[in-house]
Amino acid sequence: MSIKLVFLFILLSSSVLGNGDGNSGKYPIVVSTWPFVDAVRAAWRVADGGFSAVDAVVEGCSTCEELRCDGTVGPGGSPDENGETTIDALIMNGATMEVGAVAAMRFVKDGIRAARLVMQHTEHTLLAGEKASAFAIAMGLPGPANLSSAESMDKWTKWRENGCQPNFWKNVVPVDGCGPYQPKCNMGPSEGECPASNLMGVTESGSSYVGLHSHDTISMAVIDKMGHVAVGTSTNGATFKIPGR
Ligand SMILES: *[C@@H]1O[C@H](CO)[C@@H](O)[C@H](O)[C@H]1NC(C)=O
Repeated sequence: MSIKLVFLFILLSSSVLGNGDGNSGKYPIVVSTWPFVDAVRAAWRVADGGFSAVDAVVEGCSTCEELRCDGTVGPGGSPDENGETTIDALIMNGATMEVGAVAAMRFVKDGIRAARLVMQHTEHTLLAGEKASAFAIAMGLPGPANLSSAESMDKWTKWRENGCQPNFWKNVVPVDGCGPYQPKCNMGPSEGECPASNLMGVTESGSSYVGLHSHDTISMAVIDKMGHVAVGTSTNGATFKIPGR
């Protein structure tokens, strides 16, 4: 997710530099991951109306949050191990180099708007968890709300019935059941170390295949009529993630 975002940022930054300050009718430009056409259209309308790249990114990513694009953006998707949906989002303003983000935000569905509030109203970059929720609600976003859906609860129930497989644990016991989990062996210096065979097992299970179905989520980049760049992303994260991820 973040690599994609940095790539888009560099790509668009260099195209702006190459073009100088003047707008020769090339802008606005809106780019998004995946065919999230409605999100791109929403961002385009804002940018084409003369509003800032930041406004356009917020509108575009918000549209995906409302539409629950692919089930990977906004509420109602990607339950964690407890069955709860949480939200991550980030926005960068290329004109000012400001960044705002929220991570593992509970009970508030408006990820990208919360990220913008962090950027615009704090000296921080990232707020996390329940404190991010409290901030977002205090700043006027709706909540607290239940971010689960019938679909996410159903997915989660089936996963529980399947012994909580697959999951994101490694080097723990039990290997093929639900938690609570414990370290398979003590890894601290005073407690002795894992046998080499265990560590090799970690390496193998950690190298996952990267392809069309191994990633998702909206990332969006906009150049507004002024030639300013903004980028953003919003997601409900990995399905069956360990809470807090
Ligand atoms: C949240 O919504 C889901 C899906 O509608 C429901 O199953 C669950 O019980 C709700 N949780 C709470 C705490 O209301």
